[in-house]
Amino acid sequence: MKQLAPSILSADFSRLGESVGIIEKAGADLVHVDVMDGHFVPNISFGSAVMKSLCGRTAMPFDVHLMIEAPDMYLEEFVTDQTEYITVHQEACTHLNRTVQHIKSMGVKAGVALNPATSLSALDYMLEEIDMVLVMSVNPGFGGQKFISSAIDKIRQLDELRRKGGYDFKIEVDGGIKLENIRQVTDAGVDIAVAGSSVFGAEDVDARVREFTEILHK
Ligand code: DX5
Ligand code: ZN
Repeated sequence: MKQLAPSILSADFSRLGESVGIIEKAGADLVHVDVMDGHFVPNISFGSAVMKSLCGRTAMPFDVHLMIEAPDMYLEEFVTDQTEYITVHQEACTHLNRTVQHIKSMGVKAGVALNPATSLSALDYMLEEIDMVLVMSVNPGFGGQKFISSAIDKIRQLDELRRKGGYDFKIEVDGGIKLENIRQVTDAGVDIAVAGSSVFGAEDVDARVREFTEILHK
Protein backbone atom coordinates (compact mmCIF):
# COMPACT_ATOMS: atom_id res chain seq x y z
CA MET A 1 0.00 0.00 0.00
CA LYS A 2 1.23 3.46 -0.86
CA GLN A 3 1.13 6.15 1.80
CA LEU A 4 0.16 9.81 2.17
CA ALA A 5 2.29 12.06 4.37
CA PRO A 6 0.68 15.51 4.68
CA SER A 7 3.22 18.22 5.54
CA ILE A 8 2.23 20.31 8.55
CA LEU A 9 4.34 23.16 7.13
CA SER A 10 1.18 24.30 5.36
CA ALA A 11 -1.11 23.82 8.38
CA ASP A 12 -2.35 26.58 10.67
CA PHE A 13 0.27 26.43 13.45
CA SER A 14 -2.17 27.89 15.99
CA ARG A 15 -4.44 24.85 15.50
CA LEU A 16 -1.88 22.16 14.84
CA GLY A 17 -3.39 19.49 17.10
CA GLU A 18 -6.79 19.92 15.53
CA SER A 19 -5.39 19.86 11.99
CA VAL A 20 -3.49 16.66 12.64
CA GLY A 21 -6.66 15.12 14.07
CA ILE A 22 -8.52 15.91 10.86
CA ILE A 23 -5.97 14.33 8.54
CA GLU A 24 -5.65 11.28 10.75
CA LYS A 25 -9.40 10.67 10.81
CA ALA A 26 -9.50 11.08 7.04
CA GLY A 27 -6.93 8.30 6.61
CA ALA A 28 -3.50 9.96 6.25
CA ASP A 29 -0.63 7.59 7.05
CA LEU A 30 2.23 9.72 8.33
CA VAL A 31 2.80 13.29 9.57
CA HIS A 32 5.52 14.94 7.47
CA VAL A 33 7.54 17.28 9.69
CA ASP A 34 9.54 19.90 7.75
CA VAL A 35 12.39 21.31 9.82
CA MET A 36 14.23 24.29 8.30
CA ASP A 37 17.16 26.15 9.80
CA GLY A 38 17.53 29.29 7.67
CA HIS A 39 20.98 28.11 6.53
CA PHE A 40 20.58 24.95 4.48
CA VAL A 41 17.38 26.46 3.10
CA PRO A 42 16.37 30.14 3.04
CA ASN A 43 13.51 29.73 5.51
CA ILE A 44 13.00 28.87 9.18
CA SER A 45 10.08 26.63 10.16
CA PHE A 46 10.05 25.02 13.61
CA GLY A 47 12.07 22.64 15.74
CA SER A 48 11.59 19.46 17.71
CA ALA A 49 9.44 21.08 20.43
CA VAL A 50 6.63 21.65 17.96
CA MET A 51 6.83 18.06 16.74
CA LYS A 52 6.89 16.74 20.29
CA SER A 53 3.75 18.71 21.13
CA LEU A 54 1.96 16.32 18.76
CA CYS A 55 3.11 13.20 20.60
CA GLY A 56 0.04 11.41 21.89
CA ARG A 57 -2.29 13.84 20.09
CA THR A 58 -2.14 11.58 17.08
CA ALA A 59 -1.26 7.94 16.59
CA MET A 60 0.29 8.66 13.18
CA PRO A 61 4.03 8.08 12.92
CA PHE A 62 6.30 11.08 12.31
CA ASP A 63 8.19 11.42 9.04
CA VAL A 64 10.88 13.97 9.90
CA HIS A 65 12.51 15.89 7.02
CA LEU A 66 15.56 17.77 8.26
CA MET A 67 16.48 20.63 5.94
CA ILE A 68 19.32 21.70 8.20
CA GLU A 69 23.09 21.93 8.14
CA ALA A 70 25.09 19.65 10.44
CA PRO A 71 22.08 17.42 11.20
CA ASP A 72 24.13 15.04 13.39
CA MET A 73 23.99 17.56 16.22
CA TYR A 74 20.19 17.44 16.36
CA LEU A 75 19.20 13.86 15.52
CA GLU A 76 18.47 12.75 19.12
CA GLU A 77 16.03 15.61 19.60
CA PHE A 78 13.75 14.16 16.95
CA VAL A 79 13.63 10.63 18.30
CA THR A 80 10.29 9.86 19.99
CA ASP A 81 8.13 6.74 20.26
CA GLN A 82 6.32 7.99 17.18
CA THR A 83 9.30 8.83 15.00
CA GLU A 84 9.35 6.39 12.10
CA TYR A 85 11.72 8.13 9.67
CA ILE A 86 14.41 10.76 10.04
CA THR A 87 15.55 12.03 6.65
CA VAL A 88 18.69 14.11 6.17
CA HIS A 89 19.88 15.80 2.99
CA GLN A 90 22.78 14.24 1.13
CA GLU A 91 23.98 17.79 0.41
CA ALA A 92 24.14 18.60 4.14
CA CYS A 93 26.15 15.54 5.21
CA THR A 94 29.92 15.32 4.96
CA HIS A 95 29.88 11.80 6.41
CA LEU A 96 26.61 10.47 5.13
CA ASN A 97 27.33 6.86 6.03
CA ARG A 98 28.05 7.86 9.64
CA THR A 99 24.89 9.96 9.87
CA VAL A 100 22.73 7.13 8.49
CA GLN A 101 24.25 4.64 10.95
CA HIS A 102 23.62 7.14 13.75
CA ILE A 103 19.91 7.40 12.86
CA LYS A 104 19.52 3.63 12.65
CA SER A 105 21.35 3.08 15.93
CA MET A 106 18.54 4.96 17.67
CA GLY A 107 15.93 2.56 16.30
CA VAL A 108 14.62 4.96 13.65
CA LYS A 109 14.46 4.37 9.90
CA ALA A 110 16.96 6.47 7.95
CA GLY A 111 16.01 8.49 4.90
CA VAL A 112 18.25 10.49 2.57
CA ALA A 113 16.87 13.38 0.52
CA LEU A 114 18.24 14.55 -2.82
CA ASN A 115 17.75 18.10 -4.09
CA PRO A 116 16.49 18.45 -7.67
CA ALA A 117 20.03 19.10 -8.97
CA THR A 118 21.65 16.17 -7.13
CA SER A 119 22.28 13.03 -9.14
CA LEU A 120 21.18 9.59 -7.98
CA SER A 121 24.82 8.53 -8.24
CA ALA A 122 25.43 10.42 -4.97
CA LEU A 123 23.81 7.40 -3.29
CA ASP A 124 25.69 4.68 -5.20
CA TYR A 125 27.36 3.31 -2.09
CA MET A 126 24.45 3.92 0.27
CA LEU A 127 21.45 2.19 -1.26
CA GLU A 128 22.01 -0.93 0.80
CA GLU A 129 22.04 1.08 4.03
CA ILE A 130 19.09 3.38 3.73
CA ASP A 131 15.41 2.81 4.42
CA MET A 132 14.08 5.60 2.24
CA VAL A 133 15.19 7.91 -0.57
CA LEU A 134 13.36 11.24 -0.67
CA VAL A 135 13.29 12.70 -4.16
CA MET A 136 12.75 16.44 -3.90
CA SER A 137 10.49 17.71 -6.65
CA VAL A 138 10.96 21.36 -5.66
CA ASN A 139 13.96 23.21 -4.29
CA PRO A 140 13.44 22.81 -0.55
CA GLY A 141 12.49 25.75 1.63
CA PHE A 142 8.88 26.57 0.94
CA GLY A 143 5.49 25.00 0.49
CA GLY A 144 3.33 25.76 -2.52
CA GLN A 145 6.00 25.60 -5.24
CA LYS A 146 5.62 24.14 -8.70
CA PHE A 147 6.52 20.49 -9.32
CA ILE A 148 9.83 20.08 -11.19
CA SER A 149 9.05 17.46 -13.84
CA SER A 150 12.57 15.99 -14.10
CA ALA A 151 11.76 14.31 -10.77
CA ILE A 152 9.64 11.78 -12.66
CA ASP A 153 12.59 10.43 -14.57
CA LYS A 154 14.66 10.36 -11.41
CA ILE A 155 12.00 8.34 -9.60
CA ARG A 156 11.78 5.88 -12.50
CA GLN A 157 15.55 5.40 -12.52
CA LEU A 158 15.61 4.93 -8.77
CA ASP A 159 12.84 2.36 -8.94
CA GLU A 160 14.80 0.51 -11.60
CA LEU A 161 17.97 0.59 -9.49
CA ARG A 162 15.94 -0.81 -6.62
CA ARG A 163 14.55 -3.65 -8.71
CA LYS A 164 17.86 -4.55 -10.32
CA GLY A 165 19.81 -4.34 -7.07
CA GLY A 166 17.17 -6.11 -4.98
CA TYR A 167 17.09 -3.23 -2.49
CA ASP A 168 14.11 -2.60 -0.26
CA PHE A 169 14.27 1.16 0.45
CA LYS A 170 11.08 3.18 0.03
CA ILE A 171 10.81 6.03 -2.45
CA GLU A 172 9.24 9.28 -1.24
CA VAL A 173 8.46 12.37 -3.29
CA ASP A 174 8.12 15.86 -1.82
CA GLY A 175 7.09 19.15 -3.42
CA GLY A 176 4.27 20.27 -5.68
CA ILE A 177 2.23 17.08 -5.31
CA LYS A 178 -1.42 17.52 -6.26
CA LEU A 179 -4.33 15.31 -7.29
CA GLU A 180 -3.34 16.07 -10.89
CA ASN A 181 0.14 14.50 -10.66
CA ILE A 182 -0.20 11.91 -7.90
CA ARG A 183 -0.80 9.04 -10.33
CA GLN A 184 2.19 10.04 -12.42
CA VAL A 185 4.57 9.82 -9.44
CA THR A 186 3.12 6.58 -8.08
CA ASP A 187 3.27 4.99 -11.53
CA ALA A 188 6.95 5.99 -11.65
CA GLY A 189 7.64 4.13 -8.39
CA VAL A 190 6.78 6.36 -5.42
CA ASP A 191 5.67 4.64 -2.19
CA ILE A 192 5.14 7.70 0.01
CA ALA A 193 3.78 11.01 -1.27
CA VAL A 194 4.20 14.22 0.73
CA ALA A 195 1.56 16.89 0.17
CA GLY A 196 1.48 20.22 1.97
CA SER A 197 -0.46 23.04 0.35
CA SER A 198 -2.69 20.71 -1.64
CA VAL A 199 -3.92 19.16 1.63
CA PHE A 200 -3.95 22.03 4.11
CA GLY A 201 -4.81 24.68 1.52
CA ALA A 202 -7.93 22.79 0.48
CA GLU A 203 -11.37 24.15 1.27
CA ASP A 204 -12.25 20.77 2.77
CA VAL A 205 -9.10 19.14 4.19
CA ASP A 206 -10.89 15.95 5.15
CA ALA A 207 -12.25 15.46 1.63
CA ARG A 208 -8.86 16.21 0.06
CA VAL A 209 -7.09 13.59 2.17
CA ARG A 210 -9.76 11.07 1.18
CA GLU A 211 -9.27 11.93 -2.51
CA PHE A 212 -5.54 11.29 -2.19
CA THR A 213 -5.84 8.10 -0.17
CA GLU A 214 -8.45 6.68 -2.50
CA ILE A 215 -5.75 6.74 -5.17
CA LEU A 216 -2.83 5.72 -2.94
CA HIS A 217 -4.46 2.95 -0.89
CA LYS A 218 -5.96 0.91 -3.68
C1 DX5 B 1 9.61 21.83 0.89
C2 DX5 B 1 9.13 20.89 1.97
C3 DX5 B 1 7.88 20.23 1.59
C4 DX5 B 1 6.71 21.17 1.48
C5 DX5 B 1 5.77 20.60 0.49
O1 DX5 B 1 10.79 22.39 1.25
O2 DX5 B 1 10.09 19.90 2.20
O3 DX5 B 1 7.57 19.13 2.44
O4 DX5 B 1 6.04 21.37 2.69
O5 DX5 B 1 4.77 21.52 0.25
P1 DX5 B 1 3.91 21.48 -1.08
O6 DX5 B 1 3.20 20.15 -1.09
O7 DX5 B 1 2.98 22.64 -0.91
O8 DX5 B 1 4.83 21.63 -2.25
ZN1 ZN C 1 9.45 17.98 3.26
